[in-house]
Amino acid sequence: LRVTHAAAALALLAWASPPAPSGVPETPVGVPKAPGSVRRALALVWEERNVLGAALLCLLLAAIGETSGPYVTGKVLDAIGSGNGVTSGAIGMVAAAGATSVLFSGCRGGFFILLKARLHQTLSLRLFSHLVHQDLDFFQGVPAAELLAQFSMEVPKVCSAAPYGANQLLRSLVMALVVGTSMVRLAPGLAVLALLELPFGITTHRIQTARKQSLQQSMMEASARTASGVQESVAAIETIRIFSAEEEEEKQHSWNLAKELRLKERIELELAFFTLVHRMLQLAIRVLVLFRSHQLLRDGYITPGVLVTFLLYQDRVGSHVQVLLYGFNQFLTNAAAGQKIWEYLDREPTGDVRGTREPPELQGHVTFQKVSFTYPGNPEHPVLKDVTFEVRSGEVTALVGHNGSGKSTAVALLERLRDPGSGKVLLDGIPLPEYEHQYLHRKVVLVEQDPVLFSGTIRENIALGLEHCKESELQEAATAAGAMDFIQGLEQGWDTEVGERGGRLAAGERRCVALARALLRRPAVLILDEALDDGDEGAAQRWLRTGLARTVLVVSHRPRVLDAADRLVVLERGAVVETGTPAELRERCGAYSRLL
Ligand SMILES: Nc1ncnc2c1ncn2[C@@H]1O[C@H](COP(=O)(O)OP(=O)(O)OP(=O)(O)O)[C@@H](O)[C@H]1O
Ligand SMILES: [Mg+2]
Repeated sequence: LRVTHAAAALALLAWASPPAPSGVPETPVGVPKAPGSVRRALALVWEERNVLGAALLCLLLAAIGETSGPYVTGKVLDAIGSGNGVTSGAIGMVAAAGATSVLFSGCRGGFFILLKARLHQTLSLRLFSHLVHQDLDFFQGVPAAELLAQFSMEVPKVCSAAPYGANQLLRSLVMALVVGTSMVRLAPGLAVLALLELPFGITTHRIQTARKQSLQQSMMEASARTASGVQESVAAIETIRIFSAEEEEEKQHSWNLAKELRLKERIELELAFFTLVHRMLQLAIRVLVLFRSHQLLRDGYITPGVLVTFLLYQDRVGSHVQVLLYGFNQFLTNAAAGQKIWEYLDREPTGDVRGTREPPELQGHVTFQKVSFTYPGNPEHPVLKDVTFEVRSGEVTALVGHNGSGKSTAVALLERLRDPGSGKVLLDGIPLPEYEHQYLHRKVVLVEQDPVLFSGTIRENIALGLEHCKESELQEAATAAGAMDFIQGLEQGWDTEVGERGGRLAAGERRCVALARALLRRPAVLILDEALDDGDEGAAQRWLRTGLARTVLVVSHRPRVLDAADRLVVLERGAVVETGTPAELRERCGAYSRLL
């Protein structure tokens, strides 16, 4: 027994202190840097404790079935050897052990798959709903590919970590302990020899893991580069075609792929080498065990039944130790993959969304009161400086100015896409943050020059967010937006799919759909940010006064659109320099006239 303890201590030592090969960092990449990630992954699993409990119960019952199998088989063999014959009771016990093992193993697997699926759904949803509420600056700072990778790669990893850990690792740990103890009890001397496999296995595994982790980090970076290359090429396919840069892109992609392939080959080669070393050691130990058991059998210390049980156990303990070796590291790496996810979930949007006001009637009177604003990405450059102007209810007001004068920024403040650094934006005399978030966005609606549509039908795009709107309202909005003609001309009419980002429609058609979407909400304030700057001038003037929006704020560079407005506000480098009717401003021969 003392020798057994020595073997166990050797195993522990090997586990605790890996001999780090030269050139590999002390803390290998991929090993969790934030213990919080593992704790939070486990806390997430705790939310599904019912499923987890059922899975663990099945695991325990399956383990009982699995360990009793070899024991009963050995007993039956001894009974045959002693000439007593096989009793129906013995056969029943073998069958019962097998059936318990099979039945509960299946249930265990099923429960763990269910657990993983539920975790995936919860975490994906939580992350998504958290992200859609983040400030716009957050999205400017994080590449879309990185956010996508969280959903497609990291969330599944985190969600599989705990179920995998509990299923495979816990099972293997219990089995290795139970089976290991049984082996020591059956034949202590043989057990010592067999358990020698542990320290050797652990040592080779530690060396291999340290090497693999640094290679895998390079592999991850290479894959990310390949993926983002593909994404960029697809997004910029028109530019690539225009400059006939296809071959260059192909070359770049094949270079990226070749680099990935080289790394993959290295990883696989090292894996093959270490597996070979491990297997050779395993084989040598097994030969020793067989040699020794032959001696013990010959001298009558053990029976053939005991030997069979022992060998069956040895096989099992080997596979469980294998799972423990490979799985534990995998578990930690996967659980720690969530570091970014938890960071995102901890991030709170800065905008105040606690407003509650929902007045039944809105006049649509907008006031900018000494508003100043600077983009966080460029704090040196104030974009709006002490801006004060009014957009009167029921009127069409145009915001005019050179490129970069701050028109779209003012619009973003009115839409509450951003909040002013100082000063206030008021709607009917009430600061915007006091309005309820959804109410405000139903009442103040923006149409941009190149509006974004979602993949789906035209109907879905126009009714976006308004599930119970009537057909007549839809028709009215589409007619006012001038979208009816082209919708009726389409083979599938309202049910035509617009494609990704509305790509199957012409730019003008996309704008009509976006305008119809805005008008359907009967907005108190309709903002048209350069939405009327190309296409038919007559239609542009009509859209200023559809009768479906009470107040209109239009940003435009088109003289005829500006002349059709009731009032103009002229911006220059972020400051208001002139206000008045188009006729007044033309007469004044000031900033507005210079602009024209
Ligand atoms: N996200 C951003 N981060 C930093 N600076 C920005 C950002 N968006 C705009 N700016 C800067 O703010 C200034 C005003 O931009 P804005 O888009 O409001 O101009 P604009 O009057 O709408 O111009 P245009 O007529 O070309 O649409 C510009 O100098 C621009 O560079
Ligand atoms: Mg603009």
